[in-house]
Amino acid sequence: MEVIVCPDAEAATSLVAKLIADRLRAKPELVLGLATGRTMERVYDHLVAIRRSTDLDFSGCRTFNLDEYIGIPGDDAHSYRYYMNRHLFDRVEIAAGNAFLPDGMASDLRAEANRYEQAIREAGGIDLQLLGIGEAGHIGFNEPLSALKSRTREKALTQITREQNAAMFDGDVNRVPLRALTMGVGTILDAREIVLLATGKAKAAVLARAVEGPITGMISASALQLHPNCKIVVDELAAAALT
Ligand code: F6R
Repeated sequence: MEVIVCPDAEAATSLVAKLIADRLRAKPELVLGLATGRTMERVYDHLVAIRRSTDLDFSGCRTFNLDEYIGIPGDDAHSYRYYMNRHLFDRVEIAAGNAFLPDGMASDLRAEANRYEQAIREAGGIDLQLLGIGEAGHIGFNEPLSALKSRTREKALTQITREQNAAMFDGDVNRVPLRALTMGVGTILDAREIVLLATGKAKAAVLARAVEGPITGMISASALQLHPNCKIVVDELAAAALT
């Protein structure tokens, strides 16, 4: 893996947006794997700014998000579908039918997970997967003890993750869902290229374990060490514990 250290979060998020734009220009029918979370908000802002100031065109692109909460409908402001509409899909020309997230309201979650895997396969696989990292070491919602070969499935969220995400639920951890549908670690590793973005000092310790520690199911992000084409883009704060 290649680690790229940027001076600050603004530079790191801008670099990732430029990389996505470059890949989309090179391949207009790009299959893009997307993430949500606070870190990504600036990436989408930069991407929208590039779209508005250049000829970048999202109309041929298909997107697959990593995850979605179970039991929160897409029109609820806490859902990841709502987040993506607000931060990206409503601001560029990605057709609704080309923007996929797992359906956390599906009555049969196992069937929904299989359907999602099938949709990724039918799209030809993911060209570029964007990732953040949780304080529990997760990528997507692959919490500790996720198998390296795991595929899209239902996963219970750890208390650390629920506390990390409580800010999006008015600071009330009890309102953060207990479960989510998430691409598996194996699904993520199948992407042809991966970019993980981490900013801020809260990510420094877990990032060092992911990048320099042993590959372990306790830190799902450590599986990225196995990927042949993976970039880790960080700001100086998140890079602080790297040797
Ligand atoms: C969400 C996702 C998560 C986040 C991670 C970091 O779709 O994939 O793995 O990337 O929890 O979240 P923030 O950026 O809020 O610290």
